[in-house]
Amino acid sequence: MMRFEGKTAIVTGAAGGIGAAIVRLLATEGAEVFAADVNEDALRHDARRVTNYACDVTSNDQVEAMVSRMVDSHGRLDLLFNNAGTGKMGDITETTDEDWERVFKVNITSIMYASRAAVPHMRRQGGGAIVNTGSVSGIGGDYGFGAYNASKGAVINYTRALAVDLGCDNIRVNAFCPGFIPRTGLTNGLEGLPVRDIFESMIPMRRGGTTEEMANVAAFLASDAASYVTGAILMADGGMTAHTGQPNLWAATRELMAGP
Ligand code: NAI
Repeated sequence: MMRFEGKTAIVTGAAGGIGAAIVRLLATEGAEVFAADVNEDALRHDARRVTNYACDVTSNDQVEAMVSRMVDSHGRLDLLFNNAGTGKMGDITETTDEDWERVFKVNITSIMYASRAAVPHMRRQGGGAIVNTGSVSGIGGDYGFGAYNASKGAVINYTRALAVDLGCDNIRVNAFCPGFIPRTGLTNGLEGLPVRDIFESMIPMRRGGTTEEMANVAAFLASDAASYVTGAILMADGGMTAHTGQPNLWAATRELMAGP
């Protein structure tokens, strides 16, 4: 399948994890891709259609320069994947101004910078698609993760706001919300800890997701198959957020209910 033949794409946070999987899928399906990341040393894509591009998405100047470079070199920008993200654990008394500002700059301000730079080109072309990486943490609270929760909540509602503003330009804006995706830069630290298996056992599908599964969701939202989808927040979490959080009362009580 070559869903993205003739299209160009920028993927941020593309050195590893979910972003790298999105880059691989897009290139396999025909897109010319800028794989952008602040961690230049980790940017090792070697596919023919992929350009490794060092960019700190918290710098408006660097983001504008990247979009200009894409348009200068390939003539257009069709797809923007705002995927760079970071987190910082700590309850409110442990959260410094610097932590808070850093998390917001990487997770949400960067989306404004990149979308602001991309939209004039998409308008000129007659359309485009923006896909933001949200999180299950954007629709509820986690222990000791308030800055991340707040920033991802902002990603979700900003996605809707952009979709409303840009619908008349045929620019679709959607977000997908990963649940637990093990072995990425954000989740590597959980490997080997007991909480990792507890975490998976709490997910209705009883497992974390793969980066390839996330790339499939992101690609769908960017593709023509989603041509009438905008402002959508697509949960990709194995059912995590479908659950109320109540324990399995059915299993705990079924013997009692069965009677003598
Ligand atoms: P990751 O750490 O492998 O990927 C994030 C990438 O963003 C890294 O390569 C990092 O260098 C890059 N980045 C950070 N700051 C940047 C900056 N200022 N400029 C440019 N690039 C920057 O982790 P993962 O899991 O692949 O994260 C990708 C996205 O998925 C993030 O937005 C994250 O919040 C989100 N997510 C991940 C989940 C998971 O369980 N892994 C769950 C929910 C959401």
